[in-house]
Amino acid sequence: MMGKALFITGTGTDVGKTYVTGLIVRKLRQAGLNGGYYKAALSGAVPDANGELQPGDALYVKHVAEIEEPIRNLVTYVYPEAVSPHLAAEINHRPIDFKRVKKDFERAKSRNDYLTMEGSGGIICPLRWDNQQHMLLDDLVKRLHLGVLIVADAGLGTINGTVLTVEHLRAREIPVRGIIFNKYIPGDIMQDDNASMIEEMTGVKILAYVKKGDTELDIDIDMLKNLYA
Ligand SMILES: Nc1ncnc2c1ncn2[C@@H]1O[C@H](COP(=O)(O)OP(=O)(O)OP(=O)(O)O)[C@@H](O)[C@H]1O
Ligand SMILES: [Mg+2]
Repeated sequence: MMGKALFITGTGTDVGKTYVTGLIVRKLRQAGLNGGYYKAALSGAVPDANGELQPGDALYVKHVAEIEEPIRNLVTYVYPEAVSPHLAAEINHRPIDFKRVKKDFERAKSRNDYLTMEGSGGIICPLRWDNQQHMLLDDLVKRLHLGVLIVADAGLGTINGTVLTVEHLRAREIPVRGIIFNKYIPGDIMQDDNASMIEEMTGVKILAYVKKGDTELDIDIDMLKNLYA
């Protein structure tokens, strides 16, 4: 039996995709559901004392959500350079092979009823750009038939980043499941206006608000489950 999956993108790098994904998978697992994590390509991995590259995002989510699977199941390509995956792949002569990602993704889906897949960077992130192939992250999302949840920083600049992300996903006919606001400050007039402007302009709901340091995700579990397909 194949599990269901959800893709997490962000309005950019560092907006809190991994942080929020940790809370999502934790919530699912605390509800007794089999929630898992997968990331296709991770760059900026720091080597440990033995020189082994540490896939930070996967390690973080494994820890927060208490995932039992070994780390090698959670991420396919790991590069040390903190640059876009297409460039890290080129530097290391290790191009991202879609067939391999698909295989690892399908395996992860067969092991987990609710698989959360984290993207790299924002939705327009080049994964491969060589003589053989041009592949962006949105191509991968389309080819894996995933719906998308957008993590956005609640602060200044988010109307632009979030609305552009929604419009691009729609142009590519990728289902948008919702938005999560991160680093939200309750009562902040601008952030509350950002939220209502984004909802009005896109018609997409902000499903949860994550504050700095939150250790639980405030979202109805059935609503969360329904984001997966
Ligand atoms: N709500 C939060 N409270 C406290 N720290 C946060 C929160 N959200 C994000 N951070 C911190 O901000 C940094 C960036 O967040 P995170 O790694 O989740 O971003 P990302 O979107 O996954 O980045 P990348 O594009 O590298 O995958 C991390 O150090 C993370 O711990
Ligand atoms: Mg991340």
